[in-house]
Amino acid sequence: MPADAAAPRVRAVSAERLATAAGPAQFPPGDLPEIAFAGRSNVGKSSLLGRLAGRRGLARTSAEPGKTRLLHFYRVECAVQDERRSVVLVDLPGYGYAKVSKQERARWRTLVEGYLGNRPALRAVIVLHDVRRELADAEHELLLWLAERGSPALLVLTKTDKLAPMQRALRIRALTEAAELPEGHVLATSASTGDGIDALWGALLDRV
Ligand code: GTP
Ligand code: MG
Repeated sequence: MPADAAAPRVRAVSAERLATAAGPAQFPPGDLPEIAFAGRSNVGKSSLLGRLAGRRGLARTSAEPGKTRLLHFYRVECAVQDERRSVVLVDLPGYGYAKVSKQERARWRTLVEGYLGNRPALRAVIVLHDVRRELADAEHELLLWLAERGSPALLVLTKTDKLAPMQRALRIRALTEAAELPEGHVLATSASTGDGIDALWGALLDRV
C-alpha cells in the first residue's frame, strides 16, 4: 500500500513570508505553532517547504549552497477536510557546507541553537536527509540532541524521485535502521513529484 493511502488529504490554501531573521530580535511573535526544517545544505529544505505550501517559489532555493545565514518564517494555512489550520514553517540555514569559514560556522550555530533551544512556539523539528546518502555524524548528533530534549524527531528523506522504486525501498529501509527511530518517524518525500507530501502534512499536523 502506498504510504499516502491512509493520510488525510491536506491542501494549502494560503502561504506568506512572515519574517526573515538574523537573530532573535527579528523572530515573529510566536503565536502560531512552528515546525523547523533542519538539514545539510542542498538537501532540499526550501524546495520541500515550497511544495508543502503549494507554492513552489515561496521559499528561495539556493543557487549558492551555504550562503543563507538567515531563518525564514512562512505562515501556511491549510485545509484538512472541513477544518482550517495555520502553522509556521521555519526554513533553517543548512549545515555542512565545506566552503564556510570557522567564524561563519560559529555564527550559524549561535543563530540556529538560539532558535531551537529557546522557542516556546516550536512544536517539532524535522531533519531532512537525501535518500541517496548515508547518515553522517551531523544527522546523528541532531537526532540525538532532539531526542534528549524530549522532542521525538522526524527524519524526512528527500529526492526520492532520483531513485528507481526498488532501490528507493532498499534505501528507506537501510536509513530507517541506521537512524534507530521508531516506526512512523521516517518519511520519504520528493519535492519534484509530490511523493509523500500528504503523509508528511499528516505527521506535521499531528505535532502541532
Ligand atoms: P540550502 O538553503 O543551501 O541549505 O539548501 P536547501 O536544503 O534549501 O535545498 P534547496 O531546496 O535549495 O534544493 C537544492 C537543490 O536540490 C535544488 O537544485 C533543487 O531543485 C534540488 N531539489 C530539491 N528537492 C528535490 C527533489 O525532491 N527532487 C529533485 N530531483 N531535486 C530536488
Ligand atoms: Mg534553502
